[in-house]
Amino acid sequence: MIIQRLNSPKFVNCFSISMLKEFTNTNIVILLGYMGCGKSTVGAALAQKFNLLFEDLDDRIATAYDGSIPDLFLEKGEKGFRQIEHDLLLETLADRSPRVISLGGGTPCYHNNMEHILQATPHVFYLEGSPAELATRLFPFKSGRPLISHVKDQDELRLFVAKHLFERKTFYMQANHSISVDGKSVDELVLSIAELL
Ligand code: S3P
Repeated sequence: MIIQRLNSPKFVNCFSISMLKEFTNTNIVILLGYMGCGKSTVGAALAQKFNLLFEDLDDRIATAYDGSIPDLFLEKGEKGFRQIEHDLLLETLADRSPRVISLGGGTPCYHNNMEHILQATPHVFYLEGSPAELATRLFPFKSGRPLISHVKDQDELRLFVAKHLFERKTFYMQANHSISVDGKSVDELVLSIAELL
C-alpha cells in the first residue's frame, strides 16, 4: 500500500528529498544571452504572464551601488564590475522565491557564475541572437553599454559581436534550453519559453 511505502523510513527520506528538490528548483526561471537579445523585455513579459516577480541583475547592481552600469565600469573597471556582478549574483540566487531573473550579457562568462546558475534551477534559457540581428538592435543604444560604446558603425559592431559571441558561446550553450530570437516577437518568445517550462 502506498501509505505503508511512504511510512517506511527509507522511502520517506528519498520521497521528501525529491519533493523538496522539485519545490525549490522549479519556480525560478533564468534568462541569459548576449546584450540586445531581449533578456529584460522577455523576462518582464514572462513574469507578467505567470504572475511571478521579475528581477534584473543589472538593476540590482545599479541599485546596490546607487549608479548606472557605465558609471560603475568607469569607477571600478571591468574587473571590479565582474566581482560586484558575481557577489550580487550569489545573493540573488540565494533567494529561492519564485521569479524570473534576467542576467547581464557577461554574467555567465566570469568567475564560476555558470555553475551557480545551473545549480539554482533547471530552467535556464539562452536567448540566442545572430550577430547581424544583435548589431542592428544594439547600435542605437551602444552609448549606454560600456563594452560597445567605442564602436563607430553597424558593420564594425557586427564584427565585434560575432567575435565576442564566439568567445562567450561555450558558456551560453550550457543553458538548459536555447531559443533563437531572430525575427521573433516578445509574445512568441514568451510562448516558446512557456512551452518548455
Ligand atoms: C554586459 C552586458 C550588460 C551589462 C554590462 C556588461 C556584457 O547587460 O551587464 O554592460 O558584458 O555583456 P545587458 O546584457 O543587459 O545589456
